Amino acid sequence: MNGKKFLVIDDDPLTRHLLSDILCSIGEYQTDVATNGTFGIQEVKANNYEIVFTDLTMPELNGLEVLKEVQKINPRLPVVVVTGMSTIDVAIKVMKEGANDFITKPFKIKTITSTVERILGEKLLLDRIGFNGNYQESIERLNAELFKKLQKINLLQAINAELDSMVDNNKIYQAIVAMASKLLIVQEASFGIIEDGYLRIKKAIGAPEKDIAITTPIFETILKTRSHYLANPGEINPHTGRALSYSFISIPFLIKDVVFGLLNLANKVDGSSFTDDDISLALTLVNKTAMRIENNVLYEIIYNNLVNSLKALVISIEARDPYTRFHSERVTTYALQIADVLNLADEDKDAIKFGGYLHDIGKIGIKDGILLKPGPLNEEELADVRLHPIIGDNILKPLKFFPKERQIIRYHHESYDGSGYPEGLAGEQIPMVARVLALADAYDAMTSSRPYRDAMSHEQSVEEIKRCTFSQFDGKIVEAFLQTPTGRGELLKVLPSSALGLRDERVIEYVH
Ligand SMILES: [Fe+2]
Repeated sequence: MNGKKFLVIDDDPLTRHLLSDILCSIGEYQTDVATNGTFGIQEVKANNYEIVFTDLTMPELNGLEVLKEVQKINPRLPVVVVTGMSTIDVAIKVMKEGANDFITKPFKIKTITSTVERILGEKLLLDRIGFNGNYQESIERLNAELFKKLQKINLLQAINAELDSMVDNNKIYQAIVAMASKLLIVQEASFGIIEDGYLRIKKAIGAPEKDIAITTPIFETILKTRSHYLANPGEINPHTGRALSYSFISIPFLIKDVVFGLLNLANKVDGSSFTDDDISLALTLVNKTAMRIENNVLYEIIYNNLVNSLKALVISIEARDPYTRFHSERVTTYALQIADVLNLADEDKDAIKFGGYLHDIGKIGIKDGILLKPGPLNEEELADVRLHPIIGDNILKPLKFFPKERQIIRYHHESYDGSGYPEGLAGEQIPMVARVLALADAYDAMTSSRPYRDAMSHEQSVEEIKRCTFSQFDGKIVEAFLQTPTGRGELLKVLPSSALGLRDERVIEYVH
């Protein structure tokens, strides 16, 4: 028995005994009961309670009056008001008068447990920081503690926001080292991933950026227990094997319960050892980061699977129509050359890389009879073919991954003057990446032969493009195209390196 004692004041015997029984059942606690407020106050005067639970509506002293009396006797004794749902408004009023909490009938054991734990925890905290009657001093100390906690919470929030925006694992490694050294105020911080028996250091501040063999017993222990290792001055530094003159901690990163990497922190600037607070902060940081890395890995896996499936789909479309084989690849190459000259953002280039490849994916929905027709199409057939940007966009829409790629697919047949399809967008309304692809697509169509016509020469195609500047194409993009290797007339030759293996990139080279 740890001697913690509660008082339950309630005029209703059923509620009184039920609450008392619950309190005794959730821990090693004792309870006294009082049948009305007056008796309750007598008990408070005579005993040392941790918490007083009082009913709100009682015939003699009501809950509010009990609260006021208790505050006079012992202002630090927490009072919890017990109330029916219908009197919650009153209960809130009582809280404003200084009650610590209120619980509503019928009771939930979980609510009572968490209320008790919270109040006892707070008492412990106040006792620890010396809330010993000197209020001014105690309040200042409490304020300082709260301020420190607030700073850490703000910092953790900033960390969350920063990590959430990161998809590049290398940037995450750098960020965690910088954050950890700032949070725990240490002179040495490093992060490494475990690979082939070594801890490969990815980022270090104030510590050598040198790989470490993980053969020492300390590393073996961390790998086995999957929990952090704390060494105090005089103990061995697992990195150097020498006795430490300062505090050192190594925290494992777990992904699917396997140790993936280690965050090492050492040498606090103020020379002190790591506290429990420091350790819990570092663990929070590491767990959050591990989750982010795991998400990134999962994202990569899903993304790559998707990309490969979609590529397979494009290959199957192109396989149906021998005249368009490698069309998507050539178009992508031309579009990327234009993007280079225009100095587009990496994000746009990435969209072109994949969106260019997929731009005609909607043709999967066009019948062979139309797609492979060896002659010009009639109006109706043309209308069908013109659905392919929308069909393609619809294929990608549920995948959520590819917003810019979808713009390419949907708008690559729009014209600068608004005469294109499917929406008849004009000028800057057409997304830049789609305008770039439109030109690349048109150039490849002109320079490729079709069953019903021969390919145009490079010179003829360029003339045609120039003629259509500002009607079909954006002038800026035509200008950029003319500066690319393709625009300058260097021929592109596409060589399949193997039988269209999905992961086997086909070789594209220039023939001068
Ligand atoms: Fe198309």
